[in-house]
Amino acid sequence: MSILEVKNLNLRINGKKILSNLNLEINKGQVHAIVGPNGAGKSTFASAVMGLTEYRDISGKILFKGEEIQNMTIDARAQRGMSFAWQEPARYEGLKVRDFLLAGSRQKDEDYIADKLEKMGLDSQAYLQRAVDETLSGGERKKVELASIMAMDPEMIMLDEPDSGIDVGTLEKIFEIIKDLKQKGTTVVLITHSIAVLKQAEHAFLMCHGEIIDRGSAEKIIPYFEEKCIPCPHKNLPEEGDISHE
Ligand SMILES: Nc1ncnc2c1ncn2[C@@H]1O[C@H](COP(=O)(O)OP(=O)(O)OP(=O)(O)O)[C@@H](O)[C@H]1O
Ligand SMILES: [Mg+2]
Repeated sequence: MSILEVKNLNLRINGKKILSNLNLEINKGQVHAIVGPNGAGKSTFASAVMGLTEYRDISGKILFKGEEIQNMTIDARAQRGMSFAWQEPARYEGLKVRDFLLAGSRQKDEDYIADKLEKMGLDSQAYLQRAVDETLSGGERKKVELASIMAMDPEMIMLDEPDSGIDVGTLEKIFEIIKDLKQKGTTVVLITHSIAVLKQAEHAFLMCHGEIIDRGSAEKIIPYFEEKCIPCPHKNLPEEGDISHE
């Protein structure tokens, strides 16, 4: 059964077509991966599904748990159980880690959020009073962001390059967390350039030039990482104003 269905999604930014007739289904409780080259449209896709304001010039349908959500606000989508961890985690000047985590947390309880920080390998005593700003390193902010998503306990989690800027030990922790999420029935969508991350997924999509060009098991998609892509469907010249096909 699918938790997310995307039907004929087209998206333009400043008039330029970024996503093109995209169709996909994300099955409930499964771990999925989306891979593809830089600029393929992976982050744009996740941003459109989450409903970020710059990504609202769309046609097509996005259904979450069978309900059309493409005209809903981010908050309405989040309330329905959807979450997104950005490729570049946000900074919030002066906002304490404690308050950031409690704001979105399912349980408004300090021990609960401290446990999520510890699971990401952050000493909660040292970090709860820190600010979510430039005083945290990029990797620390990424860990705080992942801890905040775990505290939200959503039904579907989209993680955009969860491994970028993350050290080896933390990557293992992320893999453990993905296994725990799967066990409790949470749907996970991993956007990644890492074969190790792709291998955590039961099902994968290969995206190129704003389209899904292949889908199937992780094993089926792995040859992309060995530079054995499927024959490229982008031989023809693009329409004027559309994305370039170098
Ligand atoms: N806010 C924006 N304004 C203008 N162009 C944008 C914007 N966001 C994305 N794009 C363009 O859309 C295309 C897809 O970008 P996107 O960030 O979705 O790629 P990606 O697959 O996530 O790449 P990467 O692997 O580098 O993260 C790129 O050509 C990018 O320049
Ligand atoms: Mg991206």
